[in-house]
Amino acid sequence: MARIIAISNRKGGTGKTTTSVNLSAALAHNGARVLLIDADPQGHSTISLGIAANKNRPDLTSLLVEKKKPEEIMIKTYLDNLKIIPAGGRLLNYERNYAHEKKTWTLLAEQLRSLNGNFEYIILDTPPTLSLMMVSSLIASTEVIIPMQTHFLSLEALAEMVSLVSKIKRLYNPQLKIKGIVPTFYKERARLSRSVIEQISKNLGPHIILHPVRVNISLAEAPSFGKTIFQYNMKSNGAYDYLAIAREIEG
Ligand SMILES: Nc1ncnc2c1ncn2[C@@H]1O[C@H](COP(=O)(O)OP(=O)(O)O)[C@@H](O)[C@H]1O
Ligand SMILES: [Mg+2]
Repeated sequence: MARIIAISNRKGGTGKTTTSVNLSAALAHNGARVLLIDADPQGHSTISLGIAANKNRPDLTSLLVEKKKPEEIMIKTYLDNLKIIPAGGRLLNYERNYAHEKKTWTLLAEQLRSLNGNFEYIILDTPPTLSLMMVSSLIASTEVIIPMQTHFLSLEALAEMVSLVSKIKRLYNPQLKIKGIVPTFYKERARLSRSVIEQISKNLGPHIILHPVRVNISLAEAPSFGKTIFQYNMKSNGAYDYLAIAREIEG
């Protein structure tokens, strides 16, 4: 059985895409068979892996609407054992047209079931809005990882996310659990970072906090070259931090 991990937060710019791309790559570098699914219509994970936006290319919409098999639409990357199902502009139309039809919410889960066994990890990069792709991703997943900035104001979005996960768990997906929170844009010496983390540990338990990702310019630069952090700067703090998170996930 594949572990299906949604990278989610109901807030933009928290490091969801950076975490989706580089955690997927870190797990693949460690030898696992990984499928990254770009479930955000913005397509940032797709672009980050150097795959140009192309309206005619099959994407996640082909899986959901045209009922193509995942194998037919996944794209190869620089690693043999890392594949991606890309997103494109069509996904936005899909969200607009189908969000109100409840039966579409479970389509992604059903389609991914056929893949179980081919991959050890399926990572879903999700949009920040409470949308069809966010809900479909949580219904399809076994786990959720929440990247969040360690700011006081991020706590509200975290609380919303925790309550959304428990609602999805109760109504649709009993096995869903929060695997952990990744503190992003982390500044080791900042007292605020530490006190926010302490507060989360107190509320949700100390094991909920995963290895933090430090502020690192290479992480911000790599996507513009269509590269993961491991292709762009293997010696960076960013590469180190994402490998550390991969070890925690595998452990
Ligand atoms: N640890 C980090 N250090 C520096 N820049 C980062 C880091 N993580 C993400 N970024 C940059 O911050 C921006 C937002 O990150 P992104 O992963 O796209 O967030 P989201 O997907 O949650 O909107 C991007 O430009 C990204 O390259
Ligand atoms: Mg994103």
